[in-house]
Amino acid sequence: MSRTTLTRFLIEQQRNANVLPGELRLLIETVARACKTISHAVSKGALGEVLGSLDSENVQGEIQKKLDVIANELLLDANEWGGHLAAMASEEMETIHLIPNRYPKGEYLLLFDPIDGSSNIDVDLSVGTIFSVLKAPDACAGREVTEEDFLQDGRQQVAAGYAIYGPQSLLVLSVGTGVYEFTLDREVGSWVMTDADMQMPQGKCEFAINMSNRRQWSPAIRRYVDERVEGGAGPCGQDYNMRWTASMVADVHRILKRGGIFMYPYDHRNPGKAKLRLMYEANPMSYLIEQAGGAATDGFIPLMDVPATGLHQRVGVVLGDKAEVAAVVAYGKEMETA
Ligand code: AHG
Ligand code: MN
Ligand code: MN
Repeated sequence: MSRTTLTRFLIEQQRNANVLPGELRLLIETVARACKTISHAVSKGALGEVLGSLDSENVQGEIQKKLDVIANELLLDANEWGGHLAAMASEEMETIHLIPNRYPKGEYLLLFDPIDGSSNIDVDLSVGTIFSVLKAPDACAGREVTEEDFLQDGRQQVAAGYAIYGPQSLLVLSVGTGVYEFTLDREVGSWVMTDADMQMPQGKCEFAINMSNRRQWSPAIRRYVDERVEGGAGPCGQDYNMRWTASMVADVHRILKRGGIFMYPYDHRNPGKAKLRLMYEANPMSYLIEQAGGAATDGFIPLMDVPATGLHQRVGVVLGDKAEVAAVVAYGKEMETA
């Protein structure tokens, strides 16, 4: 059986479909290589002394796990010298990381959540890495990139993906021509394509939300969830199942594979407050979900149309099954105007 490796796939995308500029190909390969190293570090666990927390906090005021910092460093080091990037931004860094002057600079901007689902690291549940790629605006030519140059809406992404470190390590990727899945062959050390056209199944009755936040939800989100919890006896007329991994990568991956809806909505008690980050989590996942036939909203408008106003901006996230996402938006409209 001939296997399509990530390298071969990317070269063919560049050559045949002409959708992938060489620099972007190099960028994706570099990120994928770093994810292999992160996968290795994650799998070592206590033996690699990578578990546990540090004394430091990130810019969001969250205690950093050792692996948050290790993975962040790995991604920075891997991507600094290749000449394909203008700058990087990370959930774990307060401000942007410029490419040092000793290296050539490219035209892309890379954003990442080095370890998503950090609370799962110490209990051996799936974690992942999420990344998003933008083009540096033309106006950057001849000057240093600034934080403002990163503030582009999700529609401007030219590639996005995640790696998931679970029972298998997978890389799920889109360059705007569908969604592809690669599985890490640990013996050979390469990413091998295992799904050439990920399309999320529609019509599946499964939702993912942290129920302990119910008191913070808007009336529309409460109505949506309560009706599904009522199941066959309620207005939906059918039973729903629930899953919550507390690792967005794992929850989104499940939805891509078997359908359903994922929600981390705005906190209704603190208008404008939310948990997930637009640039490192919501935008790349929305790009993948839309490419796989699903939908993504902040509860009101498509997530990728939400204007970016800050590097670490947080946003409500509702994504997955098209009809279910539409129901959440419709409830929002109905109950706002009621
Ligand atoms: P991170 O580990 O990068 O901070 O992200 C954690 C996020 C996301 O992965 C997950 O969906 C959510 O936080 C879980 O939040 P709760 O612990 O509040 O359920
Ligand atoms: Mn995260
Ligand atoms: Mn993280």
